[in-house]
Amino acid sequence: MSNERKTDATKGAGTRRIKGGSLPPPAPGKQGSTVAWLGLGAMGRPMARRLVDAGYDLRVFNRTPGRDKDLVKAGALSARTPYDAVNGASFVFTMVADAHALLSLMSGKRGVLAGLAATPSKRRPVVVDMSTIGREAAVEVSEMAREAGVHFVDAPVSGSVGPAARGELVALVGGGVRVVERVRPLLGHLCRALVHAGGPGQGQALKVVLNGLGAHHLVALASMLALGERVGLARDVVLDAVTSGAFATPSYVSKRAKILAHDYTPDFSLALTLKDCRLATDLARRAGVALPVLSAIEREVDTGVRAGLGHLDLYALEKMYR
Ligand SMILES: NC(=O)c1ccc[n+]([C@@H]2O[C@H](COP(=O)([O-])OP(=O)(O)OC[C@H]3O[C@@H](n4cnc5c(N)ncnc54)[C@H](OP(=O)(O)O)[C@@H]3O)[C@@H](O)[C@H]2O)c1
Repeated sequence: MSNERKTDATKGAGTRRIKGGSLPPPAPGKQGSTVAWLGLGAMGRPMARRLVDAGYDLRVFNRTPGRDKDLVKAGALSARTPYDAVNGASFVFTMVADAHALLSLMSGKRGVLAGLAATPSKRRPVVVDMSTIGREAAVEVSEMAREAGVHFVDAPVSGSVGPAARGELVALVGGGVRVVERVRPLLGHLCRALVHAGGPGQGQALKVVLNGLGAHHLVALASMLALGERVGLARDVVLDAVTSGAFATPSYVSKRAKILAHDYTPDFSLALTLKDCRLATDLARRAGVALPVLSAIEREVDTGVRAGLGHLDLYALEKMYR
């Protein structure tokens, strides 16, 4: 723990943070811990796969059955309920759509907390939620976990499906220093870097701030694609400028081929973008910060989802502007 340092305490953030930065290369070979993974969507599947490939004893659960076939072939055990998945696990990872999904996994007779309570172990198990659920929900789940004698870390990620498969995500982490140190080796298989934002919920606060920025950034791209087309600029010409000029960023560059091919299959859906916009406007409202542009973006994305674009990649918003 030599890389810990004291920082100013922010509200709810605790007093100590781990200094951010790159994660060490993960240890290869058979690992000692049993790990449960719940949520096998676009992100959860490749992330869980990395832990199986790293040698962890992995138990997986997904609400819709059958999405774990490849993982089972690779060596994971398929569980029928969250309760069964966490049986004997030292670490429980969740990667689901939103707060409602996480709460439904955690609670109830066949839920995560009941399952962990039924299998007492020497060390308190840790639940690591990597979904984007917002600060309020993370604090609520952290409190539920504490009452059940379980540690909780919020570790939403920056990066999409490609970085997830390559273990190149960036984890934005909230939780106590010791417990974050405990999960750090596992995060090392999934992420290239970890930013410790503070106590429980602060990882989510940071993720919501980052995604608020992303919403401006990607809605701007969708609207300017539509404007470029309307004034007679070829798609590849606009993309050449966008991906090589002063505003070129990895997120624009990585979408180039997809946009050129009019491929709207979601790396990140417009429906999830709406959820994130709502989390950002909610955080701003609670903090008493007026952000009218962010509110307008939320309304635009909402209109796109109502128009039936929610299941498509977020840049499908260009269809609405057209
Ligand atoms: N995709 C990205 O690029 C990206 C990047 C960073 C962060 N994230 C965040 O990561 C999380 C997962 O994203 P994703 O792209 O993997 O989403 P996704 O493909 O839509 O998968 C969502 C997962 O949540 C589960 N789920 C939804 N509602 C549920 C409920 N009520 N009870 C139990 N499980 C439920 C789904 O189960 P079913 O299979 O049964 O539907 C599925 O496993 C989201 O919070 C997202 O904002 C995504």
